[in-house]
Amino acid sequence: MSLRLGDIAPNFKVKTSLGVIDFYEYLGKSWGILFSHPADYTPVCTTELGRTAALKEEFAKRDVKVLALSIDSVESHIGWINDINETQKCTVDFPIVADSEKKISELYGFIHPNASTTATVRSLIIIGSDKLIKLIIIYPASTGRNFVEVLRVVDSLQLTAEYSVATPADWTQGEKVIVIPSISTEQAIEKFAKGVEIVKPYLRYTPQPGLE
Ligand code: BEZ
Repeated sequence: MSLRLGDIAPNFKVKTSLGVIDFYEYLGKSWGILFSHPADYTPVCTTELGRTAALKEEFAKRDVKVLALSIDSVESHIGWINDINETQKCTVDFPIVADSEKKISELYGFIHPNASTTATVRSLIIIGSDKLIKLIIIYPASTGRNFVEVLRVVDSLQLTAEYSVATPADWTQGEKVIVIPSISTEQAIEKFAKGVEIVKPYLRYTPQPGLE
C-alpha cells in the first residue's frame, strides 16, 4: 500500500522493545514520527537511533512521539539498544517496533523491492495530532537522515498548521515566513499585525507569527 500526504495514518498493534503498543494510543493527541531502518546491528542505523535519543528534549518540546521500526525481533532490538546506548552515549527510551512479519512495513510502504526485498528503506513519516500524514521523507540505506532537518520540518508543519503562512526555502525558527496565496494582500495586512512586506503580489512576507 502506498500512503500519501493527507491520508490517515493506519493504526496498528504490534510488539516493540517496550512491549505491545497500539499506535494511536501511543500517539494520544501528540504529533508522531514513525521511521524505518534497514536492520538492527548496522552502523548508520546505530547513529540514527542514538541521535534520536539525544534529541529527546527537542521532540518533547514539539510534542512529538517517536517510534522506530525494523523487521527484526524484540530480542534483537533489546540487544542492539544496549550497543546504541554504549556507543552513542545515550539512552534509547522510545519504542522500536519488531516488524518481523513485515506487516507494518507493507502497510506503510517501507519496503522498496528494487532497493531491497528483505530490508526496509529509511522512510520517515510525520503524523499530525489529527492522525493525518503530513510529510514523508525516504532515504536509501546508505544515507543517514539529517535530524536537524527533521526538527526543522516539524517546526514548519506545526507553524503552517496554525497560521495562514508557508515557510520559504531553508527557513528556520524565527525567520520571516510567506503569506499563503489564498489570502489577499488586504486580508494579510489585517491579519498580520507585525506587517506585510510585498515583494510581488504573489510573494509576500511577514514576521513569524506566534513569537513574542
Ligand atoms: C546501515 O544502517 O548502516 C546500513 C544498512 C544497509 C546498507 C548500508 C548501511
